[in-house]
Amino acid sequence: MGGIPHDHYEPKTKPEKWLHKRLPIVGLLHNVIMIPTPKNLNWMWIWGIVLVFCLVLQIITGIVLAMHYTPHVDLAFSAKEHIARNVNGGWALLYLHANGASLFFIAVYLHLFRGLYYGSYKAPREITWIIGMLIYLAMMATGFLGYVLPWGQMSFWGATVITGLFGAIPGVGESLQAWLLGGPAVGNPTLNRFFSLHYLLPFVIVALVALHIWAFHTTGNSNPTGVEVRRGSKEEAEKDTLPFWPYFVVKDLFALMVILTIFAAVVGFMPNYLGHPDNYIPANNLSTPAHIVPEWYYLPFYAILRAFTAEVWAVQFAGFVTGGIVTAKFFGVIAMFGAIFVMALVPWLDTSKTRSGRYRPAFRFFFWLLAFDFMFLMWLGAMPAAEPYASLSLIGSAYWFGYFLVILPLLGVFERPTTPPATIEEDFDSHYPPKPAE
Ligand code: HEM
Repeated sequence: MGGIPHDHYEPKTKPEKWLHKRLPIVGLLHNVIMIPTPKNLNWMWIWGIVLVFCLVLQIITGIVLAMHYTPHVDLAFSAKEHIARNVNGGWALLYLHANGASLFFIAVYLHLFRGLYYGSYKAPREITWIIGMLIYLAMMATGFLGYVLPWGQMSFWGATVITGLFGAIPGVGESLQAWLLGGPAVGNPTLNRFFSLHYLLPFVIVALVALHIWAFHTTGNSNPTGVEVRRGSKEEAEKDTLPFWPYFVVKDLFALMVILTIFAAVVGFMPNYLGHPDNYIPANNLSTPAHIVPEWYYLPFYAILRAFTAEVWAVQFAGFVTGGIVTAKFFGVIAMFGAIFVMALVPWLDTSKTRSGRYRPAFRFFFWLLAFDFMFLMWLGAMPAAEPYASLSLIGSAYWFGYFLVILPLLGVFERPTTPPATIEEDFDSHYPPKPAE
């Protein structure tokens, strides 16, 4: 593989040369910031930067919140009120952190669906994708642990329901659940360990993000055409790319400013819009809320979890062949994690030679159906566990699995894709024709 342009750092001044000989960190940062980036990237490539921003925002606001918070069942609920009312700017910290989590998930879903549409996960970017899925799982865990900390009704009952899922695992389930909770039920030891882990996991995410960035810097970014940067010669590569700084930094910052304007309006004017009112009631183990609803970003997978009731034939069949070991609850847990697992396997399930959805008409139809299915499941997850929602959730879940396990592998065989442009330069010039020389 030929060299990529723009990425050479030459230390010039004496101190630079001194440092470079001992620790070439400036060279490393230079390579990161000057990475040759396909010049035809569209607005769906901004979400990575938005995600980096969210991660930093969550860590900074979280650390300051932790200075004023007390992880004890008698004090946690009032600690939140204390932060909101007595701490200088405490309300802003609290609402930035709570809504920051929502922005984080909006960005991650758009980033992920961008990957699914443009086939970003395909070779040679499988590792970037897999690390992304690990980040996503760590984000889900962090969000769940954090939601328990205000110690409201939804915190308490959410923790009870979700840790109960582990209890459904045959054989080891009950011991595992007690180990997670630090006792027989959600209580003070639970709150303590959840606080500790909620503080720890974001730093694990930071490490995973570093690997993620390293991985896509190694392969280079993909782009809307799915055609790779030409690397035969420096001249050719330079025709397909522009350095990340300043071109994409300015573009990404512009997008970030627009998003943050909306974010600021939500934090300032409707900070509880995405929250549940029941979490303003202190946790009470003697009073179960009418509907235990998780945060919006878990709802699609929560709908899949609840879809598999004891009436579903697949559940009954699994129970029959395993002599009753697989219960409806355990089946639901497998389905929920399975829904994420099949997404992680997409680099190997998508058999098409064409990378980008732009040149795959049949794929596009099924992809948009998947995006609709995701929103549909999100809505169903917030509905009561009753008919017709249960049956509809089953249909939604079936499509989710069908898309990854059946449709994608078959599409690669039967679909007739259209022809992508030969080069990134050609695609770019078709959008922005070069000006004739004066
Ligand atoms: C904290 C979370 C994450 C951060 C900070 C992050 C950051 C980034 C950045 C900065 C890029 C480069 C350009 C772009 O914006 O697309 C990128 C690319 C990518 N990300 Fe993520 N990411 C995160 C989570 C994820 C997740 C959950 C997935 C899905 C499994 C994922 C899959 C990918 C893929 C496949 C690419 C390569 C895209 C391409 O070059 O076409 N990322 N990520």
